[in-house]
Amino acid sequence: MSAPQETSSEHERLKDALSRPLHDLRISLLDRCNFRCPYCMPASEYHADYEFLTRAQRLSHDEIYTVARVAATLGVSKLRLTGGEPLLDKALPKLVDRLAVLPGIDDLALTTNAMLLAPVAQTLANAGLHRVTISLDSLDEQVFRTMSGGRGNLQQVLDGIAAAEKAGLTPIKINVVVQRGINDHTVLDLLEHFRGTGHIVRLIEFMDVGNRNGWRMEQVVPSLDLLDAVNETWPVSPLGRNYDGEVASRYRYDDGKGEIGFISSVTKPFCGSCSRARLSADGTLYTCLFATHGTDLREPLRNGADDDELADILKRIWLQRADRYSELRRPDVAAAHPLSKVEMYRIGG
Ligand code: GTP
Ligand code: 5AD
Ligand code: SF4
Ligand code: SF4
Repeated sequence: MSAPQETSSEHERLKDALSRPLHDLRISLLDRCNFRCPYCMPASEYHADYEFLTRAQRLSHDEIYTVARVAATLGVSKLRLTGGEPLLDKALPKLVDRLAVLPGIDDLALTTNAMLLAPVAQTLANAGLHRVTISLDSLDEQVFRTMSGGRGNLQQVLDGIAAAEKAGLTPIKINVVVQRGINDHTVLDLLEHFRGTGHIVRLIEFMDVGNRNGWRMEQVVPSLDLLDAVNETWPVSPLGRNYDGEVASRYRYDDGKGEIGFISSVTKPFCGSCSRARLSADGTLYTCLFATHGTDLREPLRNGADDDELADILKRIWLQRADRYSELRRPDVAAAHPLSKVEMYRIGG
């Protein structure tokens, strides 16, 4: 294969149709998950006979590495490994080992439900993983059980978080999808638990991703309401952004007990600075979480495309990109006439 001709600095100028740079590549390793969160993979549909992607349909680690390497030459500096549940991929540490030393990559993160994290946290850190983000919707045993589709073990998740901390996979972020009437009454307890630990809880507005979560605006708890509730209990003050395109609005507890974030894609969309591309496990590149279609990279990868050809495909996709779903969303229309969108577990959130 020939090396790409252009350097990353020339490519810093790669901007989409709305002048947004490409900085962040999210890679879904597989479409399977050991949980069945009702808002993502309801157990009634994802049962024992459900046909997930086969190994041959999924990109190999070599193919993933190739896409990441070429993307890095186009200005991508941040990689996030997701699923489904990425820890179901037992060869993950070997992939991390290769991605961690890619020129141009300065942030390599993993999103996981942490059930399987404790035994591999140190191995992943040794391989070069920088940090983990944990999806954890409640610390109430019953609510957690329901929200993981009856499959999660809360103690194992907490052990996973402790192991990640010990291995230095920090800062650890805890992602909480808040759904009215489901887990909103347990949010303050969860915050209390993580205050003072250094872990950053981020409260996420429930979104109309995919086609199967029966989303309705009434189920969304606006971040401003949550902020009010937090502020009444533990006063907080806003913090500035860590980087351009950060999705969370950051606050700090005034008593010094750490940071909390709010991700408000429904009530305060952030498409204007969205610099993320998403690669699904079958090698389709999506330029929006709410995309209805993507571009197949697996076929060119398997037909011998070299780095230049792949770079051209990625550039073409990015230059044409004009997605801004959340800014255009009309909640009443979204609930009544859902589009046929890619499922969250296929592109990892
Ligand atoms: P950091 O790199 O740690 O700042 O996190 P991140 O911005 O990569 O966020 P993460 O991947 O943890 O995403 C958290 C949640 O934010 C996701 O699960 C989604 O619910 C939401 N989210 C992330 N990216 C996008 C996006 O591009 N569009 C929308 N609408 N929501 C997003
Ligand atoms: N709305 C908001 N966030 C979601 N996630 C999954 N489904 C949704 C949704 N409908 C989040 C999970 C996890 C990440 C992979 O995506 O909580 O943190
Ligand atoms: Fe699995 Fe995450 Fe989807 Fe839950 S939200 S089913 S943990 S991929
Ligand atoms: Fe980016 Fe699409 Fe999310 Fe907007 S809705 S921030 S364009 S992924």
